[in-house]
Amino acid sequence: MTFSKEWNQRYQENTHMSIWPWSDLISYVKRFVSPINKELKVLELGCGAGANIPFFKQLGVDYHAVEGSEAIVKKLWSRFPDLKSKIKIGDFTNAIPWEYPFDLVIDRSALTLNSTSAICNCIDSIYKNLSVDTHGYYIGIDWFSTNHAGYCEGEQTEDEYTRTNYIKGQFANVGRVHFSDADHIKELFSEFELLVLQEKVITQYIPDDHYISAAWNFVARKKRV
Ligand SMILES: C[S@@+](CC[C@H](N)C(=O)[O-])C[C@H]1O[C@@H](n2cnc3c(N)ncnc32)[C@H](O)[C@@H]1O
Repeated sequence: MTFSKEWNQRYQENTHMSIWPWSDLISYVKRFVSPINKELKVLELGCGAGANIPFFKQLGVDYHAVEGSEAIVKKLWSRFPDLKSKIKIGDFTNAIPWEYPFDLVIDRSALTLNSTSAICNCIDSIYKNLSVDTHGYYIGIDWFSTNHAGYCEGEQTEDEYTRTNYIKGQFANVGRVHFSDADHIKELFSEFELLVLQEKVITQYIPDDHYISAAWNFVARKKRV
């Protein structure tokens, strides 16, 4: 179990309630996934406050999610009663609670909040749970980069890529945060074919702290046999 319980606390306190649509996620799904129809089985890792759910509902796909925070899942069940059996409470680094294969796994800044060994476990089980004859995509959005200023902050825990105990800034009070470089992502997804790997580096000028945020977006596809 590597789900950081701090997330449940954040949602109980109504903090970290991102509910705006994530534009990179929308662009990547629209650009890489076709056809998109009601047969498309989608699994979101760590749906949080449900920012991406209206987009998938509007696409009309067969949406599922695993989220570790009971507090936020209960809120989602009352907001989306039709998805009650499709949004499950659980640690996705332990198990994916559906047997059938998924066509698309979507992960916006969720698996990157776990340690390297937990990330490896999860990617192994996702690989087995991905369809091979149709899509078989894993789309990762906003995986923190080692070029992010936060990589030099916090305390190292468990392995060289994982940090915790941030006291200020975007990573305060959320438990583990994992940072990747390009080789690390290639290694983690070595069983997959990486179709695209892009790094966004953003320098803040106003307020003028010149803080650097950096994150990876990528598309990995299960290899055809
Ligand atoms: C930064 S939030 C992103 C939420 C959502 N994906 C979005 O785009 O708005 C990360 C979410 O992943 C969940 N999470 C992280 N690790 C998890 C794990 N091992 N099992 C289940 N949920 C996890 C957290 O509870 C949190 O809700």
